[in-house]
Amino acid sequence: MILGIESTAHTFGVGIASKGNILANVRDMYKTQKGGIIPMESAHHHKAVSESLYVKALETANISEKAIKGIAVSNAPGLAPCLLVGLEFARRKARELNVPLIPVNHCIAHLEIGRSVGASDPVLLYASGANTQIIAYAGGMYRVFGETLDIGVGNFIDKVARYMGMGFPGGPQVEIHAKGGKYIELPYAIKGMDVSFSGMQTKIQQLFDKGMAVSDLSYSLQETAFAMLVEAAERALAHTGKKELVLGGGVACNARFQEMCRIMCSERKAKFYCPEKSLLVDNGAMIAYTGELLFNAGIHEKDIDIKPRERTDEVHVTWR
Ligand code: ATP
Ligand code: FE2
Repeated sequence: MILGIESTAHTFGVGIASKGNILANVRDMYKTQKGGIIPMESAHHHKAVSESLYVKALETANISEKAIKGIAVSNAPGLAPCLLVGLEFARRKARELNVPLIPVNHCIAHLEIGRSVGASDPVLLYASGANTQIIAYAGGMYRVFGETLDIGVGNFIDKVARYMGMGFPGGPQVEIHAKGGKYIELPYAIKGMDVSFSGMQTKIQQLFDKGMAVSDLSYSLQETAFAMLVEAAERALAHTGKKELVLGGGVACNARFQEMCRIMCSERKAKFYCPEKSLLVDNGAMIAYTGELLFNAGIHEKDIDIKPRERTDEVHVTWR
């Protein structure tokens, strides 16, 4: 049994994995009414919920602490105060249980959990709040083939949603408002496999100020931003010769986004995989699951540190 702890940003999650199966996946999210994440407040939230979520995870899995053989913790990348809370909690439990720590890169965990639902060697389209990357395995590393040149697609959606008076997180609100909207042209920014969203953000805000309907803006935002990501992902599939696409990150909860990926994949005879929602958003189960892969490959340590800025392609992938 490997216990996994997620605390890179707004979510504190605890998961338990054993032999590739998820036995528990509990989480609690720091939410704000207005404005974005305040790292110290989020860290405070994580500290407050950590022990009770830990107990809840053990209860859900119906196991005793003694069954845990290692504590995986998402130590990178993320907000330093939040990462520290997760690491300190993991350290304390590891010491109490006398088991090793397993450092898990958060982005890679999104990819590995996608492999757990059936993909073997996919391209990952990772679309979350802070991150937007197209990742695939090549030459012993997870390489970033394309990414956002400015902000993550989720943060972009959250920003315009906030501007239009919707709460946080904005993604689900935009999805609701998009129903019945009509298409208007917005800046479509893709260079090779890289994308950018700031031009579209400015344009939407200007159009909103001029009185353009929120439903039309929401609909067009989805059509434009997701088309950019799907085009970049298709290019990565063509470039790498891979035949599977996995979606990851909270934005992947969007039904229209999933539909566009599905259409692209069926047109080029690739397989499309999208994990269930509880595994798409930030969660402890993907950390536990990936931690078990690493643990079985001999990656575990007495102590580890946080790496707030570690990039996906800095991790040596020795477990594949
Ligand atoms: P990271 O994983 O990069 O640290 P994060 O923690 O913000 O970023 P997630 O929890 O994976 O990421 O995703 C949160 C994001 O997903 C938010 O920006 C939210 O608006 C977006 N999101 C959630 N549901 C939807 C939806 N239905 N449509 C579009 N976006 C969505
Ligand atoms: Fe994430």
